[in-house]
Amino acid sequence: MTGPEAGALRIMISILGIKRVFPPTSKRSTSVVALNGVNAEVFEEEIVGLLGPSGCGKTTLLNLIAGFDRQNEGKIIVAGRQIERPGPDRMMVFQFPALFAWLTVWQNVIFGPKERGENPREYEPRARGLLEAVGLKGREHDYPYQLSGGMKQRVQLARALLNRPEVLLMDEPFGALDSQTRSQMQELLLEVWGLYHPTILLVTHDAEEALFLCHRIYVMGCNGGIRETIPVPFSFPRKFDLIGTTEFARLKYNLLSALRSGEERPECQRQLGDKFTQD
Ligand SMILES: Nc1ncnc2c1ncn2[C@@H]1O[C@H](COP(=O)(O)OP(=O)(O)OP(=O)(O)O)[C@@H](O)[C@H]1O
Ligand SMILES: [Mg+2]
Repeated sequence: MTGPEAGALRIMISILGIKRVFPPTSKRSTSVVALNGVNAEVFEEEIVGLLGPSGCGKTTLLNLIAGFDRQNEGKIIVAGRQIERPGPDRMMVFQFPALFAWLTVWQNVIFGPKERGENPREYEPRARGLLEAVGLKGREHDYPYQLSGGMKQRVQLARALLNRPEVLLMDEPFGALDSQTRSQMQELLLEVWGLYHPTILLVTHDAEEALFLCHRIYVMGCNGGIRETIPVPFSFPRKFDLIGTTEFARLKYNLLSALRSGEERPECQRQLGDKFTQD
């Protein structure tokens, strides 16, 4: 499998004319237009990156898809259903793993299906398989404080995948990790994708990470919209050596140039400046 091809697979996420305006938080501040007319789609089994300057609305968009927040205009459809609220069909993986400190690795992973009263004979073997897939076999009885940052992130990934989500929403999932662990986690994510083929929308600040992991990259602008779509032509499975190739370096340069040219626009500086004055 080389990855999804547009047209061959169904659209998993449709983002249609999304506008999100946050009202003023004090008398001195004004409202913030975080997203303004965002249109995008993600195909089934596709890994799509979301890149853009700080404050351009990436987390806001993920929160809307997760159902944690409501847009002012437009609609989001996931697997044919319009999003109204959170659900186990969309799992969020955060930058800082939100594990329950008083539960073991095993209890954290099975939390969702157990709470929903699902049959343990169905989900427990899958949980064991997932823990093995993320390299945590034998650590089931550890508590989160006994784990490294990368291990916690792997628990979070296994927990998310146990719910068999249609969509994995990842908000800078490896941003807090050192570069070696980060690189291992990226390879792990590709391995896990190779096993389960979840649809993934990944927010990252790292151009190299986006090119290594994604089928396609959306570059967001500072005006709350998508400025550019960049296809990533590398076939799957991808290995670490890919990032040493000339073609990878060329694409990385193009992507960094696209990001820089957007941020250097005068209207961008102004807009981001305005947004920052809200704080
Ligand atoms: N709950 C909120 N109330 C008011 N303003 C908000 C709220 N959430 C986000 N914003 C504003 O909306 C804009 C977009 O924020 P968002 O968190 O989506 O940015 P981001 O692209 O994820 O940035 P970063 O890369 O720094 O994480 C920012 O100007 C932010 O201050
Ligand atoms: Mg963010």
